[in-house]
Amino acid sequence: MLLYIIHSALLVCIAYYTFSSLHYDYFIVARSLIQNIANASTPNLEVFQVYPPVEGPFDVSCNLTLMVHSFAFSYGRPYVGESASTLTLHRCLTCHVALAVERKVQLLQTSAYTRPGQYVPPKCAFNRVVINLTVESVGRQFDRLGLMYFNDTEIFRTSTAEPTATGIEWTFVKDVSNYLTLFRQPQKIIFDLGNLVDNTYTAAFNTTLIATFSTDPNSPTPADVIVPISAHRSASNATSAFRVPQDKAANTLALPRNVERAVFTISACGQADEEFWWSNVLSSDTRTFPNNTLLGSSPFRELQLYIDGMLAGVAWPFPVIFTGGVVPGFWRPVVGIDAFDLREDEIDITPWLPWLCDGNQHTFEIRVAGINDDGKGHGMINSIIGNYWVVTGKIFVWLDTESSVTSGSGPYRGEPQPVLRLSSMVETDTDGTNETLKYEIQVKRYMYLESIVNTSKGFRSASWQQSLNFSNIGSFTSKGNVQIINQQTTGTGNSSSGYSSKFSYPMSVRSAYALDAASGNLLINGTMDRSKNVETFGTTVFPAGTEYHAHLEHTVGGSRLLIGSNLRTRQNGTATYFASDEQSFGFGSTEQDLSFVGLFQVPVSLNAQGVLTGRGSSELYHRHVVAVNGTVVENDETPAEQTVETARTLFVPKDWQNFAKSAPQAILGRGPPR
Ligand SMILES: *[C@@H]1O[C@H](CO)[C@@H](O)[C@H](O)[C@H]1NC(C)=O
Ligand SMILES: *[C@@H]1O[C@H](CO)[C@@H](O)[C@H](O)[C@H]1NC(C)=O
Ligand SMILES: *[C@@H]1O[C@H](CO)[C@@H](O)[C@H](O)[C@H]1NC(C)=O
Ligand SMILES: *[C@@H]1O[C@H](CO)[C@@H](O)[C@H](O)[C@H]1NC(C)=O
Ligand SMILES: *[C@@H]1O[C@H](CO)[C@@H](O)[C@H](O)[C@H]1NC(C)=O
Ligand SMILES: *[C@@H]1O[C@H](CO)[C@@H](O)[C@H](O)[C@H]1NC(C)=O
Ligand SMILES: *[C@@H]1O[C@H](CO)[C@@H](O)[C@H](O)[C@H]1NC(C)=O
Ligand SMILES: *[C@@H]1O[C@H](CO)[C@@H](O)[C@H](O)[C@H]1NC(C)=O
Ligand SMILES: *[C@@H]1O[C@H](CO)[C@@H](O)[C@H](O)[C@H]1NC(C)=O
Ligand SMILES: *[C@@H]1O[C@H](CO)[C@@H](O)[C@H](O)[C@H]1NC(C)=O
Ligand SMILES: *[C@@H]1O[C@H](CO)[C@@H](O)[C@H](O)[C@H]1NC(C)=O
Ligand SMILES: *[C@@H]1O[C@H](CO)[C@@H](O)[C@H](O)[C@H]1NC(C)=O
Repeated sequence: MLLYIIHSALLVCIAYYTFSSLHYDYFIVARSLIQNIANASTPNLEVFQVYPPVEGPFDVSCNLTLMVHSFAFSYGRPYVGESASTLTLHRCLTCHVALAVERKVQLLQTSAYTRPGQYVPPKCAFNRVVINLTVESVGRQFDRLGLMYFNDTEIFRTSTAEPTATGIEWTFVKDVSNYLTLFRQPQKIIFDLGNLVDNTYTAAFNTTLIATFSTDPNSPTPADVIVPISAHRSASNATSAFRVPQDKAANTLALPRNVERAVFTISACGQADEEFWWSNVLSSDTRTFPNNTLLGSSPFRELQLYIDGMLAGVAWPFPVIFTGGVVPGFWRPVVGIDAFDLREDEIDITPWLPWLCDGNQHTFEIRVAGINDDGKGHGMINSIIGNYWVVTGKIFVWLDTESSVTSGSGPYRGEPQPVLRLSSMVETDTDGTNETLKYEIQVKRYMYLESIVNTSKGFRSASWQQSLNFSNIGSFTSKGNVQIINQQTTGTGNSSSGYSSKFSYPMSVRSAYALDAASGNLLINGTMDRSKNVETFGTTVFPAGTEYHAHLEHTVGGSRLLIGSNLRTRQNGTATYFASDEQSFGFGSTEQDLSFVGLFQVPVSLNAQGVLTGRGSSELYHRHVVAVNGTVVENDETPAEQTVETARTLFVPKDWQNFAKSAPQAILGRGPPR
């Protein structure tokens, strides 16, 4: 039997009942809970991602409703701007709205007008744009991926939480001022959120997307041109994401000739067989447990940028876990890190400008790579991966004076081969069947590019340098039913522009499942502990969140200069999931801590040579949340709302909650396929 692997609170029950009677007991309990929920008129459960708030102060000029749409049977049918017959425009002139501080809005004019087919820039003055996506959902549903585009350019990638029978809602606010150039032109809005509705998976996702336009004297200089590297399907009202590996994620195009600075960003996440890429094994080990499908190409993934076939930079993705992932009970009401806002990494391609500004067409290609090995400790990083990754890219371009032509020499590239260390070991039972698999994967990569760039400002040297380190030590026991993963990804990226970033993504996940072949009953338990730590200096393409804290520069000592930020967040918890033929339930505890720190240059001392500066830091935002069985029991937040809340009761049942039902592979990335 499979039961021997399940301990904890459930073990007591398991010791006395068979798996099906266990199911029966919980099912009765759960059914009565559902009836209680249905009878009580509970408000929507508020689900949320813990992230630093988008802050003012700034003057709101106006706002636009970009989308009001219910995503029901929407697979392959994105929302297209046209179907919103009316965009509502609110204008005001003297609105001093310091978001999350003070709301003193004087409404001067409200007008509704019809602009079929397009986003039309509002008439009010703005140099800053913030979007607010609010979603409501009631019933049963899987988590879904959502991508928002302006024409062929991806603006925002999000995913949904799994709803409850009484309803959930969330709001995500995002600063999109880096797309200012796009917000100044008419655009077709395409929002692709593929959902399916049937008798069991009843829930639609009802969305409202509002853009708030404002002016801020401290607004950074946004890119002049944003070039999408995408499937370019907006003309046929379709999503412009590539599906890799089926699609070749490449575009060939000519850039303007007067480019001063260019940065490439990659948006990519794994879906279906690649959703849990970080839990995959070496390709040579996928058949270790005949009854337990494992996915291959290793747990290492690399997003690669090729310019005319030459490697120009890489991004090592953060392992986003969607709300149905591993054990769904982890992610309600606190969703996984970045689940509502999948982030993009930056690769400075300024050193390529002498090559790219020749007026000719060049090919930009994004590849998703894994490791494929021979079973003897040798492997290669290549594009053989499972199905599939959702991929787009963008080139953010800052222009030089109109008449100048960027020239120079280079890039000169130093790209030693990445260093791989692979090992794995199978242990067998006395009867010769494979019982455990242990594996270890290490990857190290260093690359350096440099060139001499000549613009109207003269000659300068431009460089981009990346140094990355990955390690994944994992094991399966109980013939693949229990998996333990310890992964660490660290790296730095340094540009001669002054931009630099340093990240670490430690993660440990333990999951155990038991599937009863006769009844189909499934039990999963797990623990996780993972973090995302990112420190950046210099000018970033995406708002770092410190831009609008310039007022803090002079608060202490008189001459602090904001030069960077440090975001550190950690999530840990335990959760359990149970699914029978008819229902699926779960519970869990999740704790998250987030600290967002501004990094300053501060005067240290004065000597004959002048002022010596050092680095100082001050915390701009901190939040600590503990959620147990769907209820936030601890929530300390400073300083955004200056509130300290504790033990709010948001959701009636304290114990089992309803989640969408899936096969082990769709939840864990291993075991019987869906
Ligand atoms: C999950 O089950 C394993 C046994 O397979 C047990 O060791 C572990 O304590 C359980 N974890 C939780 C969180 O229940
Ligand atoms: C939009 O602007 C109007 C007027 O400025 C204001 O009353 C309204 O609250 C704003 N809506 C949102 C969602 O910000
Ligand atoms: C976001 O928009 C919703 C309406 O769709 C509104 O109720 C909410 O207050 C807004 N939140 C923020 C932070 O702007
Ligand atoms: C979502 O929108 C649909 C269609 O407008 C509506 O029937 C349904 O009641 C809405 N659901 C929620 C939770 O607002
Ligand atoms: C977006 O596409 C529309 C056609 O759907 C076109 O009219 C508009 O000019 C495009 N916008 C930009 C900025 O290319
Ligand atoms: C795109 O969708 C709009 C309505 O939403 C429709 O008017 C238009 O014909 C569609 N275009 C194509 C190419 O399907
Ligand atoms: C045991 O695992 C090895 C390595 O994955 C595999 O080659 C072999 O076929 C497995 N043996 C059995 C009996 O499944
Ligand atoms: C695989 O499953 C079959 C059918 O349940 C069973 O007979 C067989 O012993 C299992 N093999 C292993 C290696 O567990
Ligand atoms: C450097 O750039 C300037 C401005 O575009 C141009 O006038 C000059 O000829 C360039 N020098 C060389 C050596 O290419
Ligand atoms: C790379 O990571 C491994 C495992 O975390 C660590 O032992 C090693 O020191 C790291 N190497 C570098 C250069 O950071
Ligand atoms: C998270 O880890 C801390 C120890 O660092 C522990 O005290 C806490 O109980 C854990 N939280 C959860 C929900 O497991
Ligand atoms: C959460 O629910 C489970 C299942 O009913 C229960 O065993 C556990 O004690 C609950 N946790 C807390 C902290 O109430």
